[in-house]
Amino acid sequence: MLAEKILTTEQQELIAGLTAENKYINPKYFYDKKGSELFEEITQLDEYYPTRTERSILTQYANEISDYVPKGSVIVEPGAGACEKIQLILEAVHPKAYLPQDVSRRFLQQAAGRLKDKFKWLEIEPIVSDFSKPLVIPQRYQADDLYVFYPGSTVGNFEPENAKTFLSNMRKLVGDSGGMLIGMDLQKESSVIESAYNDAKGVTAEFNLNMLNNVNRHLDSKLDLQKFSHKAFYNNELNRIEMHLISNEDQRYELLNNELHFAQGETIHTENSYKFSLDCIEHLAENTGFKRVKTWMDKDELFSLNFFQSA
Ligand code: SAH
Ligand code: AVI
Repeated sequence: MLAEKILTTEQQELIAGLTAENKYINPKYFYDKKGSELFEEITQLDEYYPTRTERSILTQYANEISDYVPKGSVIVEPGAGACEKIQLILEAVHPKAYLPQDVSRRFLQQAAGRLKDKFKWLEIEPIVSDFSKPLVIPQRYQADDLYVFYPGSTVGNFEPENAKTFLSNMRKLVGDSGGMLIGMDLQKESSVIESAYNDAKGVTAEFNLNMLNNVNRHLDSKLDLQKFSHKAFYNNELNRIEMHLISNEDQRYELLNNELHFAQGETIHTENSYKFSLDCIEHLAENTGFKRVKTWMDKDELFSLNFFQSA
């Protein structure tokens, strides 16, 4: 008898998504080293307004932000990626320590190394883990004043129920006296949003397709990137941009003893990016043990940065 191969958690998760009736892949699989680099390229695109808008809000209001996040606190950043945005408020807020967390190991370690060279006075402790699991921070920081920095509207990549669970976990982490500085993209004219996810240079398409390279590495499979195309559209009813990979033709693969079939035109759903109204931001805070005490926006009201105080 053939021995059953023991599958990793990632393999089980990927196979479950790819063999589901409506195929999907968790967006965390975008972020291998190449994917993290492509995301950084996306942030520089003319069409991708969220990053430059949030950066301008952080720069303009750094001093005001320091009224909410006290000096000497410990800042935890889930999904910190290149650790770029924190730099815009570090001098004003002057925390004791910064704990960037990310699933993209090599990218995070390199980013944290660069930050250490630049901010010699700051304690930096990178944490490699999946933020959909409870976040464990080093024991020696657990008694400090904890604040969460969660920019980029990464919260919008969770399904609403999971966003609530995530924020409730952050509320437990920061305790009764802490808070959270959270960037959330705002609802707007859908054509502006659709352009941001269908850029003319095709970087978002490359980012979306690159996920299949990561899947191939995990599953030792040969999904052919040439046989899929990028698709992104705004879903007005659910207030979210959806990203999919469409199969250009009928195709079959063998995935660790599982038959995988794609009909022509069938899609793999790779990401949702929810867009928020001020009301929904308020409710999300209230439903997760926080109170939204401050919102900063750009003059065109494209993007919001919010301070949630533990309630
Ligand atoms: N905070 C940065 C990067 C946002 S990109 C900014 O605002 O520009 C989203 C980041 O979240 C990536 O760095 C990605 O690697 C990370 N990420 C995505 N899913 C994750 C997960 N499940 N656990 C931990 N990190 C995750
Ligand atoms: C990380 N996250 C908030 C980005 C977003 O806009 O939802 C990821 C992204 N997907 C396509 N472009 C950027």
